[in-house]
Amino acid sequence: MKRIKIFDTTLRDGEQSPGCSMHLNEKIEVALQLEKLGVDIIEAGFAVSSEGDFKSVKAVAEIIKNCSVDSLCRCVKGDIDASYNALKNAVAPRLHIFLATSPLHMQYKLKMSPEQVLERIAESIKYAKTLVNDIEFSAEDAGRSDKEFLVKAFNVAIKNGATVINVPDTVGYSTPQEMRALTEYLINNIDGIEKVDVSAHNHNDLGLACANSLAMVLGGATQIECTINGIGERAGNTSLEEVVMALKTRESFYNAYTNINTKEIYRTSRLISTITGVAISPTKPIVGANAFAHESGIHQHAVLSNPLTYEIVKPEDVGVPQNKIILGKHSGRHAFVEHLKSVGYELDKEQLEIYFAKFKDLADKKKYVSDKDIEALMTDNKKVTMTSYSLKDFSVTSSKNDAATASITINTPKGLKTATETGNGPVDSALKAVNKAVGNDIVLFDFSIRSITEGEDALGEASVKLGFDGNISTGRGVSTDVLEAALLAYIDGLNKLQDN
Ligand code: KIV
Ligand code: ZN
Repeated sequence: MKRIKIFDTTLRDGEQSPGCSMHLNEKIEVALQLEKLGVDIIEAGFAVSSEGDFKSVKAVAEIIKNCSVDSLCRCVKGDIDASYNALKNAVAPRLHIFLATSPLHMQYKLKMSPEQVLERIAESIKYAKTLVNDIEFSAEDAGRSDKEFLVKAFNVAIKNGATVINVPDTVGYSTPQEMRALTEYLINNIDGIEKVDVSAHNHNDLGLACANSLAMVLGGATQIECTINGIGERAGNTSLEEVVMALKTRESFYNAYTNINTKEIYRTSRLISTITGVAISPTKPIVGANAFAHESGIHQHAVLSNPLTYEIVKPEDVGVPQNKIILGKHSGRHAFVEHLKSVGYELDKEQLEIYFAKFKDLADKKKYVSDKDIEALMTDNKKVTMTSYSLKDFSVTSSKNDAATASITINTPKGLKTATETGNGPVDSALKAVNKAVGNDIVLFDFSIRSITEGEDALGEASVKLGFDGNISTGRGVSTDVLEAALLAYIDGLNKLQDN
C-alpha cells in the first residue's frame, strides 16, 4: 500500500479565507494540534507577506518537532530569504515556491512569456536549494495549464533541486477524471519523477476538491494538500477530515493510507472553528453536528440493531465525544484524571488544579457530566493574566415591554470596574455594560450561541467576532447559563484584542 503524505495548509491557504485570520498564539496552538493529529507537513504561512506572518512562521518552525514546517514564497529572492530566515531553526524546513503556468495567468497576471517563466523557476529553485534541501515547487493554475508546458516547468524544477512537485487546481475548475489523467500524464512524462513526491492541491469552487484529490491519488499522487474544515480561498480547499477518512474508509479501494491519528480529527476541527469563529455546517461530512445523527425512526432502529446499517465511519474513530454520562459531582480527582487520560489529555499539576476546579463547578450546576461536557471544558482554555479582563459578577433584568438593564462587574488590570447599561435585550445591555466598564467602544460583528449538550442543564457555547481600532478577534465562552457564556465569549475576544 502507498503512503500518502498529508500537507496541512490551514495556517496559510486556510487563513486566506475571509474572516479566518488568526493571532500568533492561536497559530501556535493550531500547529501543536496539527502535530498531534499526525500531519506530515505544516504550511505555517507566507513569511514575506507581513511582519505578523514572519513571526508566526518562525514561532511554529521553532516549536514543532515531529513534522516538516514550510513557508510559501513567490519566485522572488526576497520571498525565499524571508521564508528561509523564518524557517532556519525548524527540525525539517521546507521552502514552498510557486509560479503560475497557465496561459491566462502568465499573460494577464505575470505578464511573462513561457520562456521567462521557465527561467524564473530555474533560478529561484537553484537559489533556494543553496539554503534548504527540501523544496516544493507549485505550478499555480496547473489545472488550466497546457500539459506539455507543465512537463517543461516541472522538469526544470526537478533538475534544479525540487523534491516535491505540486499540481494545483487553483480555481477549482477541473473534474476528477481530468485531474487523474493529468497526474498520470505528468508521471509518465517528467524526468526523474520517481525521486520526488507528486502533490494534489485542489480548491472547492465546484464542490470537487476532495474528489479531485482522491482521483489524483489513483493517478499516482503521493501527497495531498488540505485544510481543517476545508477553509481556504473562496469556496475553500480539500478538507483534511474528508480526504483522510475517505482513504481510511475505502483503504482497499485506494490501496493507500495516511499517518493521521484520526481520533484527533474532531478536536482539531472544533479548535479551528472556535479560533476562527467560523461555524461548521451541521451536514459537513465527518465533523458536522448531524454527521452521526439518525433522525428517521427506520434508521434509528436499524442502527441500534447494527450501526453498520447506516454508519460507514464510527464516531469514536474520529474522536466525536459521546453523550454518555461519565462523571458526576461526587467524582474525585482520580476519576477525572483517568477519564481525561482515556480521551487523550495529559495535564500538568497546575493545569489539573484549574480544570478540576472548573469540573467541580460544572458538576455542581449539572447533575451529570458527559463526554461532550468534558470536551467543551477542556477546549475552553483561556489563560487569565494580570493584564487581562475577567468576569466577576453580573445581573440582568429583561422584560417584553421595557428595555433590558445589565449591571456587570469586571476584574481589570486597574482593579474592579462596575457599569450599568440598558439595551435591546439582555445580551445587548450586558455587552454594552462591558464596553462601559472597560472604557472601549468595541464593535460586535458577529454573535452566535449553540447548545453543546442536550437537556435543560445543557452547556451553551457562545462565539463572538469583535473589532477595535482596525483589529479583529474572536472569542468563545461556555456555561450552563447562556448569558454568562455570551459575557465570557465577549471578554475572551476583548483579551485577544488587548494581546494584539
Ligand atoms: O491554489 C494555489 O494554487 C495555491 C498555490 C500557492 C499552491 O495555493
Ligand atoms: Zn491554494
